[in-house]
Amino acid sequence: MSLKHTYTLWAPLYDLALRPATGPARARNLAELGTLEGERLAIIGIGSGLDLDWLAAHTQPAHCFGIDLTRAMLRRAAQRQAHCPFPLDLIEGDAMALPIATARCDVVLLHLILAVVPQPHRVLAEACRILKPGGRIVIFDKFLRPGQRAPLRRALSPLLGALATRTNVEFEPLLAAQPELCCTRDEPLLANGWFRGITLQKSLT
Ligand SMILES: C[S@@+](CC[C@H](N)C(=O)[O-])C[C@H]1O[C@@H](n2cnc3c(N)ncnc32)[C@H](O)[C@@H]1O
Repeated sequence: MSLKHTYTLWAPLYDLALRPATGPARARNLAELGTLEGERLAIIGIGSGLDLDWLAAHTQPAHCFGIDLTRAMLRRAAQRQAHCPFPLDLIEGDAMALPIATARCDVVLLHLILAVVPQPHRVLAEACRILKPGGRIVIFDKFLRPGQRAPLRRALSPLLGALATRTNVEFEPLLAAQPELCCTRDEPLLANGWFRGITLQKSLT
């Protein structure tokens, strides 16, 4: 079964399970975005659009793209679209090959997607490609530290990865593969720092 199929099954339960579990950490991370006034935002793996509730109340991007692989999740995000005070394009697409032109966005949001996809380095490379020079990537996800002993999470990752999300992803090697990106913030947000809030900036040249 593919992730598209499993997230189709998760879609009706997703908000129920994830909204309370991630709410405060999500809000803390989204506050890093600032007002986004006049900026173009891309939300990669937008899912049911949980971020849209906060964004609608606190930000004014000039435009927002929401990309997801799973139609059932996008349908839920579409229900939130009516309450968005900014233009929002919901697009069915793959985070590892984004249907967005190069240097089109000022800010890319990667919430709970890098640990989900099978090739997270491709998602980070794509996020970097669609960013303008000087643009930002804001991440909220669970990452192990390089070499961290986490035997259960490492052992269960193949199974959990097929169902919903991997639990053995390390962030540092992903960043090392993107020399245009520099880390400007890295803070623990949830579960004793397993979930981190990270901001990256793309170089100006
Ligand atoms: C854990 S959910 C996160 C949703 C949302 N970002 C949030 O914070 O609640 C992961 C989402 O990634 C989507 N997804 C999985 N693989 C993807 C891919 N290759 N490209 C785009 N979206 C993908 C799933 O359909 C699901 O909606």
